[in-house]
Amino acid sequence: MFKDGKILVGKGNAETWILPQMANRHGLISGATGTGKTITLKVMAESFSDMGVPVFLADVKGDLAGCVKPGDLSKIEKRIVNLGISPEEFPMKSYPVRFWDVFGEGGHPVRATVSDMGATLLSRLLGLTEVQTGVLSIVFRMADDKGWLLIDLKDLRAMVAYAADHAAEVVNTYGNISRQSAGAIQRALLQLEDAGGDIFFGEPDIDIRDWMVTDDNGRGMINVFHCARLYRSPLLYSTFMLWLLAELFEELPEIGDPEKPRLVFFFDEAHLLFSDAPKALRDNIEQVVKLIRSKGVGVYFISQQPSDIPDPILAQLGNRVQHALRAFTPAEQKAIRAAAQTFRVNPEFDTEEAIMALGTGEAVVSFLDEKGRPSVCERVTILPPQSMMGAIDDERRKAEILASDIYGKYDAAVDVESAYEIINADRAAEEKKIAEEKAKAEEEKERLAKEKEKEKAAKEKEKAKKKTSSKRKSSVLGKAATSAANTIGREVGRSLIRGILGIFKK
Ligand SMILES: Nc1ncnc2c1ncn2[C@@H]1O[C@H](COP(=O)(O)OP(=O)(O)O)[C@@H](O)[C@H]1O
Ligand SMILES: [Mg+2]
Repeated sequence: MFKDGKILVGKGNAETWILPQMANRHGLISGATGTGKTITLKVMAESFSDMGVPVFLADVKGDLAGCVKPGDLSKIEKRIVNLGISPEEFPMKSYPVRFWDVFGEGGHPVRATVSDMGATLLSRLLGLTEVQTGVLSIVFRMADDKGWLLIDLKDLRAMVAYAADHAAEVVNTYGNISRQSAGAIQRALLQLEDAGGDIFFGEPDIDIRDWMVTDDNGRGMINVFHCARLYRSPLLYSTFMLWLLAELFEELPEIGDPEKPRLVFFFDEAHLLFSDAPKALRDNIEQVVKLIRSKGVGVYFISQQPSDIPDPILAQLGNRVQHALRAFTPAEQKAIRAAAQTFRVNPEFDTEEAIMALGTGEAVVSFLDEKGRPSVCERVTILPPQSMMGAIDDERRKAEILASDIYGKYDAAVDVESAYEIINADRAAEEKKIAEEKAKAEEEKERLAKEKEKEKAAKEKEKAKKKTSSKRKSSVLGKAATSAANTIGREVGRSLIRGILGIFKK
């Protein structure tokens, strides 16, 4: 709930507030399934919107779409009354929402270009080895140097083929492009296409400024990234989310520590980001998370266990909401202890015990104070959301998409001239040149053959003349023999030319 310029998230013995100037210091919402993580995210997102801060959130289950409808007071009245909040203070309302979806089904399509995705993330998506990644980087650089756009996967496939074909010429400039590596990349690209991974890539690609808008009343846009389908391919999902983060990082200017964030990014199922991510990639994420703060972007991870997040990143998540964790095994017990130890102790209760005893929609919470210090943790009841909890039907979603002021900007894909077209045009031109040269050669040979024939005929005539002048009687026989010889000669000549061209054509 947005109040007095701050966000009231929960209430227990004390109230817990997210301060706008600390909201870009990132956060973590953790807890077992069904303990209230998604609703907490929703409560925060709504309040950011009321604060005028746009948000981008991954909606893995489709249960965040309800933001377009006002909540049902009867469902939450008891909770707010228990929290000492009157219904007058807590209006049920809908929020400005834009739906997005890489598949273009549950929202406006979100597309990236292959160039934008970059070699590192693509390598992860393709499962390439280090050597193959090196080759992919060369391919990217070649395309860059030539000024050829790599937009979709067919561009990339054409470019890999082109690079492999010209490997010998470019080895000194770029390094070695082995046939094996190029082949492996091509196979991985085909597999990615088969898995539906080509859907990401194309134009018009997303302009992240379309997320960073407010409505006529100054409320921040809630960008609901529908990933019910994308999430079924965890690698696609996590790579795409990473790309979004990198894109925000690259596109936005440095602004230091703003009085409120420019955008807040909620990252559900965040453990997928780090599970079997190579160290280099994890280091990358760590860097981005660290530096994106000064671009005014707050990143909030949602995951079951705090230990799903690598320590260097966890250390940067200043605003924490820990929902209940259950301990059935010694390992789980240990995890709860670890989670509890990340909080500043409140002498009034035992953090570890509290985490195990929390009910649904309750949490142990610590946010950064105005000096940027984590507050002593509080055990609180999280406020309910003001818009509808849960999903909306397809019809309503469609209506929202069609009615959106941005409808039409991304909804149809366009195929612009890029590497694929250029390389194919190049190849077509080359083939035409070869064909023309061949035709010329054929003409030349035929001309020569004709000349020889003429010369021969002239000589024969000369001989015949001499013969006729000496032996006039055998004239008929002589002529016939001569023409037969000429015919045979010409035939042999032709088939020889055809034979040579045949070899060229193979
Ligand atoms: N703050 C809250 N206010 C009201 N209801 C809540 C709250 N938190 C959780 N709930 C209830 O608990 C259910 C499960 O919460 P949810 O956020 O979906 O759990 P999780 O995302 O951790 O699996 C919700 O559908 C809602 O009915
Ligand atoms: Mg959830």
